[in-house]
Amino acid sequence: MTFNVPDVADVTGSVKSALLAINEAKDLAGLKIVKTEHLGDKSALSKASQALGKLAAENRAELGKVVGSAKAEVTAAFEAKLKELEIIRDLKVLSEERVDVSLPASKLPKGGLHPLTILTNEISDLFIGLGYRVAEGPELEAEWLNFDALNIPADHPARTMQDTFFIEPLESKLVLRTHTSPVQIRTMLENKPPIYVICPGRTYRADELDATHTPVFSQVEGLVIDRGITMADLKGTLDYFAQSIFGPNVKTRLRPSFFPFTEPSAEVDFFFNGRWIEWGGCGMVNPKVLEVCGIDTSEFSGFAFGMGLERTLMVRHGITDMHDIVEGDVRFTRSFGISGR
Ligand code: DAH
Repeated sequence: MTFNVPDVADVTGSVKSALLAINEAKDLAGLKIVKTEHLGDKSALSKASQALGKLAAENRAELGKVVGSAKAEVTAAFEAKLKELEIIRDLKVLSEERVDVSLPASKLPKGGLHPLTILTNEISDLFIGLGYRVAEGPELEAEWLNFDALNIPADHPARTMQDTFFIEPLESKLVLRTHTSPVQIRTMLENKPPIYVICPGRTYRADELDATHTPVFSQVEGLVIDRGITMADLKGTLDYFAQSIFGPNVKTRLRPSFFPFTEPSAEVDFFFNGRWIEWGGCGMVNPKVLEVCGIDTSEFSGFAFGMGLERTLMVRHGITDMHDIVEGDVRFTRSFGISGR
């Protein structure tokens, strides 16, 4: 609507339609559109104001009053509606975004250490208490360190394809370590005696996963090199170890055995819940191994031992299926507590 010559009836009509539109606005967005339409520069009322200039002076004053009060009326109605819609919007936001502070928080379950980790920490702590260090080595190991340096000759059954995961290309001479014993060699090559270390870690053999085997398992190795070390020291250490892990009255026994890297060698058993249970291997470090590592055998001797951690855990906790240890089901892990370290 254009007011070439504004007239009172037109202005009254504009006010009416503006008030109606304001009244019908449902929300702030709608009201904003109404404002542009009825109070904006291009609205009928603004155009009426602009057209006033074209009128003769005597008509201008009277019509000016009419247009002025029309604008004031529409503006007042707009302001009132704006306040009303703002209050409605605020109430809506308050009710929709209300936070019930009395609701219980959604809790994430606390994680827990795997029982093997707990056992490893426990063993590390008890040997650190005896003055040992914890030594580590890589799981991807040089064949030489895993076998040759430990006096395991090339035709030894442990080196056949059945047991060992060889890494391609075969010329790389790398294997997934089949035991933690290569860490003994690394430790002796890097440190001068006296040496007191344990080496916990993951080991690999080409076995099928079943109730008592897993291709990825864990061992802990012990190595002591010092002056005047004898088998009595080995036996005393194993007794202390077994009693710390299985209980104060647990006995150990040694049975003659063979390992290429120890001479003499023994199997260590412990007496638990009324029966003897095989635990691991041990012996006096073979002088050939000491020599490979540049240790003077006229001055130093040492003992070593190695046992499986899964087996230790299974016996101690009456776990009958290896799957429980490797599968990582939280229902199993949780039964060992969430404290750990
Ligand atoms: N390395 C042996 C194995 O994996 C275990 C072992 C036996 C470790 C005798 C030793 C040892 O340190 O003295 O079967």
